[in-house]
Amino acid sequence: MSTKNITPEQILGVMGIEVWQDKETATATETAAPANPATSPDWQKLEQTVKNCTLCALSKSRTQTVFGVGNKKAKLMFIGEAPGANEDLQGKPFVGRAGMLLNAMLQAIGLNRDEVYIANILKCRPPNNRDPEPSEVEHCTPYLLQQIELINPKLIVAVGRIAAQFLLNTTEAMSRLRGRQYHYGPKQTPLLVTYHPAYLLRSPREKSKAYIDFLAIQKALQEL
Ligand code: URA
Repeated sequence: MSTKNITPEQILGVMGIEVWQDKETATATETAAPANPATSPDWQKLEQTVKNCTLCALSKSRTQTVFGVGNKKAKLMFIGEAPGANEDLQGKPFVGRAGMLLNAMLQAIGLNRDEVYIANILKCRPPNNRDPEPSEVEHCTPYLLQQIELINPKLIVAVGRIAAQFLLNTTEAMSRLRGRQYHYGPKQTPLLVTYHPAYLLRSPREKSKAYIDFLAIQKALQEL
């Protein structure tokens, strides 16, 4: 089913959030260049390297690697933690229930998945969805850094505590990390933090805060 005609209010309804807002503030934003299907040699090489990676033990338990999806020229890049069971089976990030909620939140600010790029810190699923081990993060980080370099996003969103703490090199709590803009890496790319949708599924009362984060994402994109 096409979601093109669904209003932000309807999507927020699906997310379980009731909002009254000025319609103009929910207007869709043009945020990404049209998808470029031409895959450069750099991308091909990187995807192949990730596919064949055996640098850590997760390579033994994975069904497949989960590289990343979306527009390789996107202005907006989401970075999550690691694939879960559905992602491990399908080979794509954020395709389970948490992924559906992420899609809904994107729709709420007038975006769809194909316009942004979505990747994780780890490219393989940790058993039982445990937190990534430092050594796993260390081995996988170069892949993420190359993705960031190739995409050259104008805004990065860290999805959840693990991604936020990793990208910002901090141990601060989510409650303190949200709601501020940071700058990441050599290009000092603007970076925002939002709750992980899996957390929102467990704590639906926090969805309204996540909606505020997404409005901040929309505003930051408009100001680029
Ligand atoms: N959680 C993540 O952080 N990434 C996924 O791809 C799925 C769930």
